[in-house]
Amino acid sequence: MRLSRYFLPTLKENPSEAEIVSHRLMLRAGMIRQSSAGIYSWLPLGYNVLKKIEQIVREEQNAIGCQELVMPTIQPADLWRESGRYDVYGPEMLRIKDRHERDMLYGPTNEEQITEIFAASVRSYRDLPKLLYHIQWKFRDEVRPRFGVMRGREFLMKDAYSFDMDAAGARRSYNKMFISYLKTYERMGLTAIPMAADTGPIGGDMSHEFLILADTGESEIACHGKCLEMDWAKDIDLDGDLQPIVDDLTSRYAATDEKRDPEVEKALGDDLVTARGIEVGHIFYFGTKYSEAMRARVTSEDGDEVVPEMGSYGIGVSRLVGAIIEASHDENGIIWPDAVAPFAIGLVNLKVHDEDCRVACDETYAKLQAEGVEVLYDDRDTRAGVKFANMDLIGLPWQLVIGPRNLKNGIVELKRRATGEREELSFDSVLAKMRG
Ligand SMILES: Nc1ncnc2c1ncn2[C@@H]1O[C@H](COP(=O)(O)OP(=O)(O)O)[C@@H](O)[C@H]1O
Ligand SMILES: [Mg+2]
Repeated sequence: MRLSRYFLPTLKENPSEAEIVSHRLMLRAGMIRQSSAGIYSWLPLGYNVLKKIEQIVREEQNAIGCQELVMPTIQPADLWRESGRYDVYGPEMLRIKDRHERDMLYGPTNEEQITEIFAASVRSYRDLPKLLYHIQWKFRDEVRPRFGVMRGREFLMKDAYSFDMDAAGARRSYNKMFISYLKTYERMGLTAIPMAADTGPIGGDMSHEFLILADTGESEIACHGKCLEMDWAKDIDLDGDLQPIVDDLTSRYAATDEKRDPEVEKALGDDLVTARGIEVGHIFYFGTKYSEAMRARVTSEDGDEVVPEMGSYGIGVSRLVGAIIEASHDENGIIWPDAVAPFAIGLVNLKVHDEDCRVACDETYAKLQAEGVEVLYDDRDTRAGVKFANMDLIGLPWQLVIGPRNLKNGIVELKRRATGEREELSFDSVLAKMRG
């Protein structure tokens, strides 16, 4: 993409409405634009990152046999009357009437919808277990939308649902998701720590929130100091028995607000760490709550009628864009981890009016593209200082600088955004490096 043609409305000044660094940088880097409180348009650079994150989530869901479908954003209220949630779900639910005066709503989540789909079509134990997910926009009319995409009203979530014949099966599904979440975050360059979360009326130990630590996080957490040093995403065979692995990973104290235990914390002494964190995922086992109410029934091998056991599993896809920036930036701007970067490399032409320089840049651009490398090519007629500042702001992992002076010696400068390290290389070695 040539920057001269790209829609990248960057801002020079810090927008005053933004309280935290990720929100400021997303606005300044031209990634999003607010439409109304907690509702955003995603501009090309931001949308690009959102899609990268979505794709990692998708691949890791598919890897555990979870199948993608897509459910509507607008749901009939009757579905929620069946589960009994229409009246209890508070003002966060956006309620709408259609032209026939039928009650509709903009989905804040999809337990009812998926259970209805499942109940209508699955009858036999042979079809279980089933893991289904979608990546779809949600609406929750939050009292206090804030921090940009971190707490929006409209936001993109991956929500998955599991159906199993019994509680043991549900636990296997839960464990698969648990491990797959750790892999998902690790691929994005994040360390997300699973923490015991409130299970509600079901009780037990099968609810975890996944948090990344950040001073700007909305959740207060407490954990054993060792949790901060653990290798969460070690290589794990997903087809093996995951219970001992999950038991091991959850053996150290790590709890969110409602689950904190003063006794345990006192006993931990100096090992206790309290911090703030950003909730980037939440997994939950809720037994037969929805399957019972919505009359999902499956015939067992012995011919008995069984109410399937369910769980639900959310990842805040749009929140992750902000969360990654919170975890990875410096005073000059964003530092994208390679896996979610909107472009792999930014190519900077230092002197667009110098014919040799222009030709060298155009050729390098073409070659990189031919190699399948995603390049953002700054071919604009602006000062070098502006170009460097822009590149640092938007945080592409590599910057390739081509100027007339180095060009005479057949040399270009490659900068790693994260470390600021610069190398002078030949054209060929740059291509080889990016290729591989
Ligand atoms: N208002 C929001 N804005 C952005 N992301 C959200 C919002 N609410 C929830 N999420 C994301 O979706 C995931 C699943 O949501 P869930 O646990 O149901 O929400 P909550 O924790 O607000 O009850 C959360 O872990 C979070 O990452
Ligand atoms: Mg939650």
